[in-house]
Amino acid sequence: MDTPHEAIPPRFDVSDPDFQVDPYATYARLRAASAVCRGGPGQWVISRYRDVAALLGDPRLQNQLPAEYYRLTAGNGPTAEFLQRILIYQDRPKHTILRKAIGHCFEPRKLEALRRRIEDLVQQRLAPALERGFLEVVEDLALPLPIMVVCEIIGIPVADYNEIRPKAMELGKAFVLTNEESNRATADAAVSWLRCYIGRLLEQRNRSPTDDLLSRMLVAEGHNEGLSREDLIDNTVFLFFAGFETTTSLISTACATLLESGRELARLQSDLSLIPNAIEEFLRYDAPVQSRFRLVREAIQIDGRTIKPGRLLLLLLGSANHDDAQFVEPEKLNVMRRPNMHVSFGGGNHFCLGAGMARLEALILFENLLRCCKRIEQREKPVRSVGSPFRTYARVPIDVTVG
Ligand code: HEM
Repeated sequence: MDTPHEAIPPRFDVSDPDFQVDPYATYARLRAASAVCRGGPGQWVISRYRDVAALLGDPRLQNQLPAEYYRLTAGNGPTAEFLQRILIYQDRPKHTILRKAIGHCFEPRKLEALRRRIEDLVQQRLAPALERGFLEVVEDLALPLPIMVVCEIIGIPVADYNEIRPKAMELGKAFVLTNEESNRATADAAVSWLRCYIGRLLEQRNRSPTDDLLSRMLVAEGHNEGLSREDLIDNTVFLFFAGFETTTSLISTACATLLESGRELARLQSDLSLIPNAIEEFLRYDAPVQSRFRLVREAIQIDGRTIKPGRLLLLLLGSANHDDAQFVEPEKLNVMRRPNMHVSFGGGNHFCLGAGMARLEALILFENLLRCCKRIEQREKPVRSVGSPFRTYARVPIDVTVG
């Protein structure tokens, strides 16, 4: 038994329709009521900044969840097996080995080399939209840019973008907290397809290696550190998935929220050097990844409550980012907010590997968009995406005037 506590804390229900419409009102209620709230069976939910930030890097917690968790969320097919192999659900020593193999592609010098390529991609995608005078941010920029960048680092050919993109979105169904039966078959089919596809590319690299992630993975396999071919394939698939809709979410959310706040847009337009700061604020204001699970390995105490080993903790990143004990007026978008220690990229050993890349993509995109356009306005109300594991938009149509 976990230590009893005087008042019964509220339950967090991810499928509550009110939560789906406005998660931040639910988070505020949870934070005010208790440091530890109830989740599903055997789960506790953590909503306050101080606790979430500390627990993300707490060595008494682990990322590998019980096999039953993967079975319950993903069923008994390839998706459950895939989830158990990927970096984000590993602990030492396998996590260290895998992170080293993948991390090579995210070193600062690699990112610097990507900068020119991202500039070109942004300008290519922006040019026709600027000529027309309008763009649909998601389709024109926020989806294609991260896909092209992540394909480039992995070594996926340009010609295959359109075929591989829907598969990655289908795989996303495996990460939705309210996972439903119908999603499982879709995710299973996508995992099988993506595994075959990446497996074929790895075979090609075996014959003629280059400097991409696929080739690096094969080098890591040769080091005999316990990485199987299946590990390489599933982690490459994961990287493709992790690198794309998350950044799509950052870009589309940034545009949607900025256009709702004329004052913040004007501030950015008058001082482009604020863009890096603004990107951190977009990440805080509406985090693409709203929560992360951790498993309690050694008993921990939170606000006087003991939580015993084997319990799952759901860390609400989106809630922590809106805690007024940490942020002044958290419900307001403020592109000049400083300091801004948001937790949108997670923390500890698992801090997002692609944070630098996502920031770079967003920086180059906003520098170009704001430099080229003297006027940017909402064309139609943005439409939120339904059924994605990320907090993101399906459509953000905007009008632009060049100048
Ligand atoms: C705005 C964009 C992004 C956001 C908000 C984001 C967020 C996150 C979060 C919350 C985690 C979990 C951290 C934890 O459990 O403590 C994570 C892990 C990860 N992300 Fe990102 N991510 C983004 C972009 C990317 C990109 C572009 C890539 C790669 C191309 C990427 C690759 C990864 C990888 C490989 C991990 C697993 C790290 C590990 O477990 O060691 N992410 N990300």
